[in-house]
Amino acid sequence: MTRKLFVTTALPYANAAFHIGHMMEYIQADIWVRFQRMQRDAGAQRVVHFVGADDTHGTPIMIAAEKEGVTPQEFVAKIAAGRAQYLDGFHIAFDNWYSTDSPENVDLSQGIYRRLRDNGLIYTKTVDRFYDTAKGMFLADRNIKGECPVCHAKDQYGDNCEVCGAAYQPTELINPYSVFTGSTPILKPSEQYFFKLSDPRCFQFLKEWLNTPGRLQPEMVNKVSEWLGENGEKLADWDISRDAPYFGIPIPDAPGKFFYVWLDAPVGYLASLKNYFEKQGIDYEAFLNDPSAEQVHFIGKDIVSFHLLFWPAMLNFSGHPIIDKLKVNVHGHLTVNNEKMSKSRGTGISPLRYLQLGMNPEWLRYYLAFKLNARVEDLDFTGEDFVARVNSDLIGKYVNIASRCAGFIAKKFDGKLASTLSDDAKQWISRALNGENGERQAAIAANFESREFGKALREIMEVADVANRYVDENKPWILAKDESKTAELHDVCTTALILFRQLTIMLSPVLPHVAARVREFLGDDAYSWEDTQGERVYAPLLGRTIGAYSHLMQRVDAKMVEDLFDKPAPAAIAAPAAVEAAAAPAAEASDIEELAPEISIDDFAKIDLRVAKIVNCEHVEGAGKLLRLTLDVGEGRYRNVFSGIKSAYQPEQLIGKLTVLVANLAPRKMKFGVSEGMVLCASAKDEKANPGLYLLEPVSGAQPGMRIR
Ligand code: MSP
Ligand code: ZN
Repeated sequence: MTRKLFVTTALPYANAAFHIGHMMEYIQADIWVRFQRMQRDAGAQRVVHFVGADDTHGTPIMIAAEKEGVTPQEFVAKIAAGRAQYLDGFHIAFDNWYSTDSPENVDLSQGIYRRLRDNGLIYTKTVDRFYDTAKGMFLADRNIKGECPVCHAKDQYGDNCEVCGAAYQPTELINPYSVFTGSTPILKPSEQYFFKLSDPRCFQFLKEWLNTPGRLQPEMVNKVSEWLGENGEKLADWDISRDAPYFGIPIPDAPGKFFYVWLDAPVGYLASLKNYFEKQGIDYEAFLNDPSAEQVHFIGKDIVSFHLLFWPAMLNFSGHPIIDKLKVNVHGHLTVNNEKMSKSRGTGISPLRYLQLGMNPEWLRYYLAFKLNARVEDLDFTGEDFVARVNSDLIGKYVNIASRCAGFIAKKFDGKLASTLSDDAKQWISRALNGENGERQAAIAANFESREFGKALREIMEVADVANRYVDENKPWILAKDESKTAELHDVCTTALILFRQLTIMLSPVLPHVAARVREFLGDDAYSWEDTQGERVYAPLLGRTIGAYSHLMQRVDAKMVEDLFDKPAPAAIAAPAAVEAAAAPAAEASDIEELAPEISIDDFAKIDLRVAKIVNCEHVEGAGKLLRLTLDVGEGRYRNVFSGIKSAYQPEQLIGKLTVLVANLAPRKMKFGVSEGMVLCASAKDEKANPGLYLLEPVSGAQPGMRIR
């Protein structure tokens, strides 16, 4: 049966250019799509429609456009015009790129809404909302700032505090203000439209839908099931309306009300498909109702609730035929050097800069594919790892095979491959392709199908290892020196190129451009997965005259990778308002020690830091680096703490001073006694070059025993 696949990636917000995390999602989906497109076997054909679009609606885009003095439509058109250089640059083969701000999307979204309403799942309720009277606008959570009700940090957003991580309602903020005008917002009643997710029908449906085998990753089924609660008691209704002015789709029969962006965003998948089908003359309704059609979403872990609660409920209760066809593949996030990407911290990688530096997009495709699996796990881009992986696998193992053998075919045999193979050669080929247990090829295909790309590539590299061993053992460069060994040389080089071709076919979902160049060199037509089977492994190359080999891929130069990391210009470092006017910090980002991996506020809370008074300080006999501190931490007893700060302070300098103690560190038995905690010091990244140690001291007024939080 022909599988008809409608494949999508999340629709990126049209308020910014792509970052490297977006590219990861597109590369993952693109590899899967290319693998599917190679299945042309009469019994298992695939037809794939791979579409994307910009997610254009919502307040942030409206405000961004306003700041630039253009209409939202003009703003998103500019963003859309910039997409191709990224998609083409990394060989992402979408069939169509469209927009949620399109007539199709208006039509489809309003249609879905009307059917939900007719089905009794929409109701209205008047709620108090913050309103900026100066701007004449209701404020989204992110348009309001104020003091965190929990930790009292200033200037926190209306939905959660970036300092302590607390989540709250905007109405709980202390001294709230509008980010637009700075004025104090008033509470104004507004009629809102809700989708009744709490309806028992939704729970019944979602429970069954989520648990349909093959629809979701098992870990996602578990996670989303938790969000439902035992009997659906955790499902809350969803506010789907926003008040004018809003850049969005009008709610039918509700003047001045617009769909919240997340209502029409996923409908954008269908709008893009419909638009594409219209251009192609394919029947959209027939496709939706075709039993062999499937929709496969690729999305990141941050947008699961929208795709696994609201979206399926919307589709189902509007009677949309695609609901039974939907599969969702969730991926983790890409980090760079184990940190979340952030420009101000200098860890971001710009995809465009990557291309501008002349770095090969297929290096990144291979590297990410090697790290990807079917689970919801984060993956990390590390410069050194990238260089090592690409150079070792793609250059050292794969390209190497052709570059070691192709020259002899050209020089000694006028470009013509041998017409038959020796039995030994056939055995090597079979061993390479089938592996120890004879199941290697099937495993490679199964791993691509199930998005275990890392596993697929490991198996493929094992084929390359065998091929290289074959060349090493048969030494064509020695055979070439001996006239009597010409037939052997022909056999060996032909065999190596047969294996090289097999590697190319299997790598072609990941390396489409290299594959195209190899096809040209070998005189092949488009590769299909069937070319890895039976006769088709050998037959096409035997006796064939091939083209001239030219080098397929350069090694990664580590210098390029260094240049890749964004070093923010000093002015780009976000500075608190008070120091903005002063000179920007002069230090290069690389002068300071790399930040440790991110921790949560809960992790931090485990460390109990206290203000401690140094009541006594003395040398420790026989200890080269230590001073003994007697500390008052307000506990009604003194603590004994050893600290390696002898090089920096004379004991009498410290007596009477306050400092900071890690007070809940497990006591440590040392040669000179038990140390009950640790005092904190600052030191430079390179302690040899810059050996200064600086004991922490609170600003005066702090009392012994106070907690530092
Ligand atoms: N506009 C919404 C999606 C609407 S879908 C109907 C959105 N846009 S986004 O631009 O913020 O994100 C687009 C996709 O990129 C999401 O799937 C998101 O998970 C993914 N990624 C964002 N940062 C990422 C990484 N660091 N790594 C991998 N994917 C990342 O959400
Ligand atoms: Zn807080």
